Amino acid sequence: MNIMFNNLSKQWDAIKKDINPRLDALFKKSDFIGGKAVGEFEENFARYCGTKYAIGVSNGTDALKLSLAAFKLESPCGVIIPANTFIATALPITYLSDIKFDLVLIDCDEYYQIDVELLELYLKKNRKKWKSCVLIPVHLFGHPSNMKRVLEIAEESDCIVLEDSSQAHGAMVLNKKVGGFGDVSAFSLYPGKNLGAAGDAGVITTNNEELYNKIKSLRNYGSSLKYHYDFKGWNNRLDTIQAIVVDEKLKHLDKWNDMRIEVAKKYDDLLVNNENVITPKTAPYINKQIYHIYAIRVKERDKFQTYLSENNIPTIIHYPIPIEKTKPFNYLEHFNNKKTKQYVDELISLPMHPFLTDDEIEFISGKINAFFK
Ligand SMILES: Cc1ncc(COP(=O)(O)O)c(C=O)c1O
Repeated sequence: MNIMFNNLSKQWDAIKKDINPRLDALFKKSDFIGGKAVGEFEENFARYCGTKYAIGVSNGTDALKLSLAAFKLESPCGVIIPANTFIATALPITYLSDIKFDLVLIDCDEYYQIDVELLELYLKKNRKKWKSCVLIPVHLFGHPSNMKRVLEIAEESDCIVLEDSSQAHGAMVLNKKVGGFGDVSAFSLYPGKNLGAAGDAGVITTNNEELYNKIKSLRNYGSSLKYHYDFKGWNNRLDTIQAIVVDEKLKHLDKWNDMRIEVAKKYDDLLVNNENVITPKTAPYINKQIYHIYAIRVKERDKFQTYLSENNIPTIIHYPIPIEKTKPFNYLEHFNNKKTKQYVDELISLPMHPFLTDDEIEFISGKINAFFK
């Protein structure tokens, strides 16, 4: 059995018939930058998320950076992120040399999302320190953050909300897809994401026309009219070839997300009686969890990972080093960061993709249960 952590070639099998003529037309026309497919994907993705606008960009990290750059941030600025996230949530504010900021890490809750109680407490004590403040909830592992509370807290404390939706394309909360809650939402379209390109890519959604126009300009050197520059921007555009790939995959996204949910259910059923394994939980306030990652928690994680690897079961640790222990951020303030510290030593992600077979899931779960006997 050749179990894969993710299986992108099966996605290719599903789209190649439809994508090949579009690629052929692209190469004939050669509008590799800003081609028609970029606008088509933006329109389709905005419709999918239920937002007015979408802007294709170079990757998820740039999506966050462009969003932050588009806000009218005043220094000093607080930037608040969950402690348990990928480093790309933390990095983009550091790229904006004009802004003096404090980056703050808030502990996660049992769903691995930003702990809204701690967030509220923290802001009550500290919001006064800053002239502006951005909250960046991350819908980690495909489980939406508690957006009702995040939006209430943002309102109480006068904060801008930037959703990091990189792991949650199609996940739902408050009967809406993620991407439409924040002032702006940033998505990575990295190949392994639930919606992934054939290389680096990203997309931003918003309902705010002013931010939409500014981000479009910022991704294109700060220019909305050729050779005229309104801002100091970047070259952070989405390639036409990537727009075609994600536009075709978008047609399959809901089906593939539903297949992931079936895989998760099967894992849950097979691991339910194993008291040594904590499977992912679903918060009562969400509508759809799309399992970008299926992360379980176990004690003696390293021994467990070695054992799975010896049985040809690939796993990944998301994330082995908490942000405040990474070299760029080891000075950071964090707030009662207890759960994140514990989870860093216990979390381990099992193979998860839409095409995992029942046999594979049974094999993996059987080996996990045997380990603890
Ligand atoms: C939560 C989160 N934020 C941001 C990013 C950055 O995206 P990218 O790798 O496309 O720059 C990723 C993915 O890699 C991510 O998982």
